[in-house]
Amino acid sequence: MKNSDIRAAWKYHDGTKHSYWSVRTSTHFLDWANRPGPFKIYPGIEPIALPREMRQTGVAALAAISERVPSSGGDAVPDLQDLARILFFSAGITKQREYPGGEIYFRAAACTGALYEIELYVVTGALKGLDAGVYHFNPADISLRMLRHGDFRGNLAEAAAMEAAVAHAPATIVCAGTYWRNAWKYAARTYRHFGWDNGTLLANMLAVAAASGLPAEVVLGFVDIEVNRLLDLDTRREVSLCLVPIGLTREGSPPAPREAAVMGLETIPLSKREMEFPAMVEMHDASSLASEEEVAQWREKRPVFSPSASAGEQVRLQPLREEEQPADTIEEVILRRGSTRTFDPAAAITLAQLSTILDRATRGLPADFLADGAQLNDIYLIAHAVHGLAPGAYFFCRERKTLELLKHGKFRGEAGRLGLEQQLPADACVDVFFLADLKRILEGCGNRGYRAVQLEAGAIGGKMYLAAYAQRLGASGLTFFDDEVIQFFSPHAKEKSAIFLLAVGKPLKRKPQ
Ligand SMILES: Cc1cc2nc3c(=O)[nH]c(=O)nc-3n(C[C@H](O)[C@H](O)[C@H](O)COP(=O)(O)O)c2cc1C
Repeated sequence: MKNSDIRAAWKYHDGTKHSYWSVRTSTHFLDWANRPGPFKIYPGIEPIALPREMRQTGVAALAAISERVPSSGGDAVPDLQDLARILFFSAGITKQREYPGGEIYFRAAACTGALYEIELYVVTGALKGLDAGVYHFNPADISLRMLRHGDFRGNLAEAAAMEAAVAHAPATIVCAGTYWRNAWKYAARTYRHFGWDNGTLLANMLAVAAASGLPAEVVLGFVDIEVNRLLDLDTRREVSLCLVPIGLTREGSPPAPREAAVMGLETIPLSKREMEFPAMVEMHDASSLASEEEVAQWREKRPVFSPSASAGEQVRLQPLREEEQPADTIEEVILRRGSTRTFDPAAAITLAQLSTILDRATRGLPADFLADGAQLNDIYLIAHAVHGLAPGAYFFCRERKTLELLKHGKFRGEAGRLGLEQQLPADACVDVFFLADLKRILEGCGNRGYRAVQLEAGAIGGKMYLAAYAQRLGASGLTFFDDEVIQFFSPHAKEKSAIFLLAVGKPLKRKPQ
């Protein structure tokens, strides 16, 4: 089985590390005349408009990102409004800005380079106001386009080896990644970005589903070829990344799988020319699951981690008390969010604000690759300006809810350097690094574990974005020099790999001219 030959994931990971020299010797350049279009367009399919005026959930963002939907014992079936809310607040256009080459349509979730390579599809039974079918969501006109007519949920359930949430979902959203749309700028590193950018989008999706009273989870175990065929994807260009079953129906078994013929539906080319990056195609292929049996076996092997032994000075998290917590709703916070472009280097946040972010974002992701309460990524921090926390490097012990001091000191210069020599991590109040024991994860989950660890980081990072903006703070995802990050946090972090980075602080308020 390809998935267990984990040399593929190591080859990809090591081959796409950033270093001082790799960045300086890269020959990749941005060909603006060949910039990919931001939307997938099917010229031959009529749009089905989704409702634009949606009922507000009224649920506070901090609750939506961290609390699970209590089981009502009955069915939880989304209506068209719910579906529209979930799709819009995950991938909809929330802002628009002119730039010299045209217009950028910013979306609900942060995405590397604002290139938005994650596409959403819906596989649904009949809902109130929507026929059963397979649909593509286009955020440009807030519409669905029907790719297949009929109930194909049984095909997804079978591809996911009858995973319970998929088998009992009234509708499932499938997230897919389009290589070229992101690789135009980031070349082969795009496969990491698939996880990050799909992850930030999932943070929104899970939160809005929860706020809508609908259970949802992330399913990473499925037979790739079956799901890709169902969505009619040209897999050299676009591949399914995860399934998100939405809602619950207790009706017996899902409908029987149906014939899903190859359709080759016409779509508008993204660019005049597209380049292929074999490293990503190889990585995807090596992490693909080929049969239901393989999916079922893979799901059995969820890695379990024991809490690390504590050493050094400990600082307890002190999250905001209930009455101090902002009540801003999840919709308000998503509309307000946007990556901070300049942090105020003179500003500070409080330990209560930082604690609230860490606590709310790490209460567990509902995902088939995680044992209950487990987390693949470990969290390390460099605190620059946090009232109640001495400047220095810390390890966040999630089980004990403590920050363990690794080294005291002012590390703004080092943080700027680790974050690819950018100003943002140097000026932030705190930088949150995600590191993982990749060896253990790959040995347990095979190459598919690589998809899982990147996706989890993006999802937790996305929750941190939302927890920061709920408190009217700023945040930005960042990229990094892989090995230097590990050196900085060693010896504690030795043997781990750098996965993700998020800076949190206060945006610099521009003085009126
Ligand atoms: C994982 C991740 C990494 C990012 N890395 C950088 C970075 O290195 N430098 C930077 O200026 N912005 C970075 N960004 C911010 C994106 O450029 C930003 O999300 C995108 O332009 C969309 O804008 P918005 O977040 O304001 O909606 C990153 C975002 C994410 C999600």
